[in-house]
Amino acid sequence: MTFKPIEYKDGVCRMIDQRLLPTEEIWIDTIDYHGVADAIRTMVVRGAPAIGVAAAFGAYLGARDIEADDFDSFFARFEKVCAVLAATRPTAVNLFWALDRMKSFAKACQAYPVADIKIALEYEAMAIADEDIRVNLAMGRHGEALIPENARILTHCNAGALATGGYGTALGVVRAAQAAGKNVSVLADETRPFLQGARLTAWELQKDNIPVTLICDNMAGYLMSKGEIDCVIVGADRIAANGDTANKIGTYTVAVLAKEHGIPFYVAAPISTIDMAIADGSGIPIEERESREVTHCGDKQLAPTGVAVRNPAFDVTPARLVTAIITERGVVKGDYLKGINTIVNKGR
Ligand code: MRU
Repeated sequence: MTFKPIEYKDGVCRMIDQRLLPTEEIWIDTIDYHGVADAIRTMVVRGAPAIGVAAAFGAYLGARDIEADDFDSFFARFEKVCAVLAATRPTAVNLFWALDRMKSFAKACQAYPVADIKIALEYEAMAIADEDIRVNLAMGRHGEALIPENARILTHCNAGALATGGYGTALGVVRAAQAAGKNVSVLADETRPFLQGARLTAWELQKDNIPVTLICDNMAGYLMSKGEIDCVIVGADRIAANGDTANKIGTYTVAVLAKEHGIPFYVAAPISTIDMAIADGSGIPIEERESREVTHCGDKQLAPTGVAVRNPAFDVTPARLVTAIITERGVVKGDYLKGINTIVNKGR
C-alpha cells in the first residue's frame, strides 16, 4: 500500500496539509471546487501529478453543484468551474491536462442526461487518481533498471508519494530500486525556499525506511566533487516537446553540476507532464511566488525589510543536460524530439 496524499469518498476530497508537514499530520476536507482551488493555490496540495488529481476531483465537485437540465448550459458553466481551477498555478501542466480530460469526457457523454454525466465525471476523477498510481509503478519498473547497486541518489524538491496520487515519480524509481534489493540511499536537497526536500522528501522516505540524508541546496556540488553522489533523479512540472524540463527552482543548477562531474541526471515524469504544444523550454510559463517565502522562514524574518526579492518557483533544464527521461511507457534518451514524439504517440 502506498501513502496517498489525496483521498476521495462520497463528495469529500481529503488532502493532507503539506504546509504543516513534517511536524503536524492534519487532513483538510474540501467539499466544493472553491475549496479544492484554494488548496492548490495555497500549496495544501502540490507536486504536478497531485495537483492534476486534486483538480479532477475539484472539477467533479463543481460539476455536481451545477443546476442545469440541458448539456449546453451545463457545459458552459462547467467550463467556468474548470477555468477557476486552471487559474490556481501556472507551471505544472498536469493541472491543465486533468481539466482538459474532464472537459473532453463530459463532451463525449453529451448525449446522456446531465445527472448521469455528473456521475460519470465522478468516476472519471477517481480513474485519474487510480491511474496516477499505476503510472508511477510502471515508471518505477522502467527507471529502476538505470539505478546501480548501492547507488547514492540525489533528488531535488519532492517528487514522491506526496507529489502524486501515490508512490511518486522520482521517488517511485527509488522505491522500485529498493524493492529490487539494490540497497540505495537518497540525498535530499532541502529545496529553498519552500523546503519540499527537507519537509516532505525526508518525511516520506523516513516513513518508508529508505535511508535519507538531508543537505542544504549549496552542498550538492561539494558532495559530487567528493564522489559521494552516483546519480540524480528529479521529477518535472512540464516537459517541452524537445525534452527541456521545468522543475523546482534549483534543478537546473543541479543538472549543470551533474554534467560537470559526469554524473547521470534523470527526469522521471508521466506522459501527462509532457506538453507537446510547447516546442522548447522558453515557452514554459514560470510561476513567480511572493517575496515573503524568501525573506522569511515561518514567522522568522531573515532579510531586511523592503529588500528587493526574486522568487521564481521553477527553472528549465535544457534537454542536453538530461541523461534520460523515465516515463510509464519506457525510457527516452538521445534524440528527445524524436523519442518524445514516439513515446507520446505509443499505444494511440
Ligand atoms: O511547487 P511545487 O512543490 O508544486 O513543485 C513541485 C515540483 O517541482 C516537483 O518536482 C514536480 O512537480 C514533480 S512531482 C512528481
